Amino acid sequence: MRVLVIGSGGREHALAWAIHRSPGVEKLWVAPGNPGTEALGINVSIDPMDFEAIYDLCRGESIELVVVGPENPLAAGIADFLAARGISVFGPTKGGAQLEASKSTAKEFMARHDIPHARFKVFERPEDAVDYVRCAPGPWVIKADGLAYGKGVTITSDTDEAITVISGMLSGKLHGTAGRRIVIEEFLEGIEATAMALCDGNTIFALPMAKDHKRVFDGDKGPMTGGMGAYSPLPFVTPEMEKMIYRDILHKTFLGLKHDGIDYRGVIYAGLMLTKAGPKVLEYNVRFGDPEAQCVLPRLAGDFAGLLMSCAEARLESFISSNSIEARDESAVTVVMASRGYPGEYPKGLPIEGLAGTGNMFSDDVLVFQAGTGKDEKGRLVASGGRVLAVTALMPTLVEARLEVYDALSKVTFPGAHCRKDIGKRQPKI
Ligand code: AMP
Ligand code: GLY
Repeated sequence: MRVLVIGSGGREHALAWAIHRSPGVEKLWVAPGNPGTEALGINVSIDPMDFEAIYDLCRGESIELVVVGPENPLAAGIADFLAARGISVFGPTKGGAQLEASKSTAKEFMARHDIPHARFKVFERPEDAVDYVRCAPGPWVIKADGLAYGKGVTITSDTDEAITVISGMLSGKLHGTAGRRIVIEEFLEGIEATAMALCDGNTIFALPMAKDHKRVFDGDKGPMTGGMGAYSPLPFVTPEMEKMIYRDILHKTFLGLKHDGIDYRGVIYAGLMLTKAGPKVLEYNVRFGDPEAQCVLPRLAGDFAGLLMSCAEARLESFISSNSIEARDESAVTVVMASRGYPGEYPKGLPIEGLAGTGNMFSDDVLVFQAGTGKDEKGRLVASGGRVLAVTALMPTLVEARLEVYDALSKVTFPGAHCRKDIGKRQPKI
């Protein structure tokens, strides 16, 4: 099979790694990729939003499967564009991608299909939203409707701050057109967790659950980031709760998409709050989580590329009945190494030391996934992004995986490198 992965982050490095090791993969391209994916396939300097150039590459190289990593090309219709030209795509159509690209669409979808969620209201006029926060009790969770690079959510109990954010969003000053409509929702207390499933439009296949750590500093302090680390499986999620999440959330989401006539072939990512009243959806994503992919994919044994292709070709059920795709029993811990200052401004071009060989692994069970890395004029690996790389360790227990991941991270460094020390350390209670 000839496969193209679209994107350049740690998630795409993990996708490329899992595809590269699948039997039957003859050749792999990554557009644009990063220095880590160079060791696995051919990096092609194409912008993920340049659909014509992607199609030309697919035609020129007889690529059979395109796996789309990030949400932006999906929201802009890359799956529709390529599928109309006869290419199999793992990733939903523009219609399906609205679950991530529009928070109000996602919330209305949850309400319509009886999927547990936080109570919400949608606003387009600032005076209506301001009236609402003056009457309804806080804290308020104020969300820009559109894609805002993970920065579109403000949680506050302060009426003045809420009003400032509402005005900033609805005037377009804070998030441009993404904030011209907002959702204000009920604040939920509980434990956050990620549930992902693969879907081919007819069947769904749940992946192991994971927990992301979104704040930049230990103890969940500091600003929100794209994710500083993850672990899987989750000792605090009982088998009964996992069943409930599958039945009341993932499966209902799948049925809702089917009912709405959306032929969804890709990942359904449900960002959950596990509350005392049961699990509720905070958000949907239409792609693998980052860093959840770096944590969950190493736990999957079996033909991953074949699995994605079976989703793209709507034959997931027959694929899983004749291929064994199983979650390894081992625990995976993934820790992100970020640049000083992230998620704000950070320096670029600082040399990274300590990654041996191709810079992709310390051993079969201690893997490196590059994200914000680049090469300087001398060809040295440098930090070029906020989240620079992640290390994942797979070990028989969570405790051992933590020890192993931090041991590996102690060997890697660049000036100002920062990582959380508490990924997977405390087991929360629901
Ligand atoms: P979202 O992009 O919708 O997932 O929101 C980003 C983050 O804001 C989530 O990961 C949660 O930490 C927090 N959050 C979002 N919605 C809520 C809510 N209704 N109650 C409490 N926290 C929330
Ligand atoms: N780790 C959260 C996300 O991928 O959106």
